[in-house]
Amino acid sequence: MNAQFITLDGIDGAGKSTNLAVIQAWFDERRLPVVFTREPGGTAMGEALRELLLNPQTQVSLRAETLLMFVARQQHLESVIRPALDEGIHVVSDRFTDATFAYQGGGRGVPLADIEILEQWVQQGQHPDLTLLLDVPLDVSMARIAQARQKDRFEQEQADFFMRVREAYLNRAAAAPQRYAVIDSNRERELVKQDIEAALSRHFGI
Ligand code: TMP
Repeated sequence: MNAQFITLDGIDGAGKSTNLAVIQAWFDERRLPVVFTREPGGTAMGEALRELLLNPQTQVSLRAETLLMFVARQQHLESVIRPALDEGIHVVSDRFTDATFAYQGGGRGVPLADIEILEQWVQQGQHPDLTLLLDVPLDVSMARIAQARQKDRFEQEQADFFMRVREAYLNRAAAAPQRYAVIDSNRERELVKQDIEAALSRHFGI
């Protein structure tokens, strides 16, 4: 099996941080070579763009926001993701293009067809092999966001924004069920952990 490109995604407050540790442990226990990275970010330029994009003071149009996500993504693919995969190292990215379809598309209303054009141009056919989509009901997401000490530019959005983001994620997963494992993250940690491990084991056939 070639090196696999795996992404973890979901609305804010879905529990990505906790479950990244579960994924890390799954790879470590099997001694599989892996790099963990994130979007927006993953490179020096990507991290600089992340700061700009998450800063509540930033004024940015929705098209510019969408383009900046793809600028960071292009550099990330070119200098981190593809080189690792070429060397036989699995890649786990905390968010990827599904987030653009969900946040800029669903949340902000950028036409999905426009995002698809950028996706094609930037990714040149490179897509995740497996996406673990953490899902929680809106009220759980909102309650977890409310606990954030300092809300970033996205976390400051209202419930209807996150409702559209969640719907967009779920629509994408429903349209390509072979690529997604939708995990109900609104349960006891141990049960969520078991589902994530099962999805990885199924995908890797181990
Ligand atoms: P996070 O890493 O804490 O999830 O924060 C990243 C934020 O950026 C999150 O609110 C989702 C948002 N985002 C987009 O809006 N579009 C994207 O393409 C990506 C990768 C993230």
